[in-house]
Amino acid sequence: MMRIEQINTDKMKLIFATNNKHKLEEVAQLLTGQFQLITLAEAGIHADIPETADTLEGNAALKSRFVFERTGLNCFADDTGLEVEALNGAPGVYSARYAGEKCSFADNVNKLLHEMQDKDNRAAKFRTVISLILDEKEYFFEGVVDGEITREVHGADGFGYDPVFKPAGFDKTFAEMTLEEKNKISHRARAVEKLVSF
Ligand code: IMP
Repeated sequence: MMRIEQINTDKMKLIFATNNKHKLEEVAQLLTGQFQLITLAEAGIHADIPETADTLEGNAALKSRFVFERTGLNCFADDTGLEVEALNGAPGVYSARYAGEKCSFADNVNKLLHEMQDKDNRAAKFRTVISLILDEKEYFFEGVVDGEITREVHGADGFGYDPVFKPAGFDKTFAEMTLEEKNKISHRARAVEKLVSF
């Protein structure tokens, strides 16, 4: 019979299908203990992974399946969108390309602030969907955090829309938080927690 000590030393290897170093840093801090996180580079994948679906679930699945088809290994991917109430849920699944193809995080933030300049309703949420492929089966986990869009940028940490997103119950944006603080409440952390407990 296998002893517990032996089981614990055999960490579960999971490839995280992302080229975003910020996401990797966040998730690496959350997935410790029984997991060994493998990056795309470590898995020998250097291609750009397509994100052409029109839902977060669809894009997350495209990314995890892309990696699974090339490696045959357990893997997961996340897709995240910022859903702004006054913009009928935009930019949503198009959050990465809101200001156009090849735009920067700053371009997206500036466009969002411009679109929101006359809006009193600032309510927004970040939604992350994780697609996990484990032993050839696919599972989904969702994490959501409610908050509001600020009127100016605040803070220099984080990435993407972090400088204009203030989570509910806090007086600072994600970009004013440490990684540890963001990881206690964020959309991505909540989805990863579900994956871990699964
Ligand atoms: P992706 O398609 O999941 O990579 O995310 C789409 C876009 O959403 C990214 O390019 C970022 O601009 C934004 N985004 C994703 N996650 C976060 C986050 O945790 N904070 C701020 N922006 C994010």
